This record gives sequence, structure tokens and C-alpha cells, in this order.
Amino acid sequence: MIIYSKDVGQTEKAGAELAEKLGPGDFVALYGDLGAGKTAFVRGAASVLCPGAPVCSPTYAIMNVYGGKVPVYHLDLYRIDGDDDLYSTGYYDLPVGQSIVFCEWCEKCPEAIPDNAIKVFITRDGDGRRIEIADTCA
Ligand SMILES: Nc1ncnc2c1ncn2[C@@H]1O[C@H](COP(=O)(O)OP(=O)(O)OP(=O)(O)O)[C@@H](O)[C@H]1O
Ligand SMILES: [Mg+2]
Repeated sequence: MIIYSKDVGQTEKAGAELAEKLGPGDFVALYGDLGAGKTAFVRGAASVLCPGAPVCSPTYAIMNVYGGKVPVYHLDLYRIDGDDDLYSTGYYDLPVGQSIVFCEWCEKCPEAIPDNAIKVFITRDGDGRRIEIADTCA
């Protein structure tokens, strides 16, 4: 599915619409440059899954967790340098099956992304954004 977003609100809405279909065990892998809108997309999703959660880019924290009916993990792999580094963050101990995971900068650790991840590619298209959602189950 491809969505064209004209502003940050439309990117948030695209995240919210995807969130309606998510449940425990879903891993959403986000791809796109600095400032593409990955965190905006997650903010929209979180407004459905865990309303009121203070969504911010976990670039330094690596991982945020938001309460909700189902725990929501928000990761950013931008600063991760290889698999040993990722291992030390606890990434491989995440309760993936019982939670919903959003992971920014998946291009940094391609081998660590589950095969069944829902992939979201965000690219700039002039002032807007092209959002491609590739669901392996679709
Ligand atoms: N159509 C759009 N969709 C999303 N963001 C937009 C759009 N147009 C402008 N923006 C702006 O682009 C920025 C996107 O920031 P955001 O933090 O979501 O990007 P990011 O991909 O998470 O970056 P990073 O790689 O640094 O984590 C915001 O400042 C937002 O206001
Ligand atoms: Mg971000």
C-alpha cells in the first residue's frame, strides 16, 4: 500500500490507521532518512494504541516503552553499531510475542529484523512524503 502525505498530520494519520490493524506479536519496521517522519508515524500509531503516551524519538535511549492495552515498544537503531551492540541493549530479550514493536532505522541492523515484520518505507516527495507499507501477510 502506498500513501502520499502532504503534512505531518497526514503521516500521523497513516500511522493511526495501521495501528487499528495491529495486535500482540506485530513488529513494525520503519525505514527512511533523518527527518523522514518515522517518529511522526509512530506518534500517530501510539495515539490509538496507548493514548497520551509521550512519544519521542528514542535516538539516545534506544528504546522507549509505552503502556497500553498491549505494551508498545518504540526503538531507534540509529546509534547501534553492529549486532553485539544491539544484543547489549536487550533487543533480543524483548517480549515480542506479547507486545507491539515499532523500530526506526531498521536499515542499520537488517539481519535483526523479523522476517514477518510489517515494513514501512518513508521517502521525501517534494514537501510531502511517500509512505509505502509492505505487509508480508498481504
Ligand atoms: N508530510 C510529512 N510527514 C512527516 N513529517 C513531516 C512532513 N512534512 C514535514 N514534516 C516534518 O518532518 C519532521 C519529521 O520528523 P520525525 O522526527 O518524525 O522524523 P524521523 O524520521 O523520526 O527522524 P529521525 O531519523 O531523526 O528519527 C518533523 O519536523 C515534521 O514536522
Ligand atoms: Mg525518529
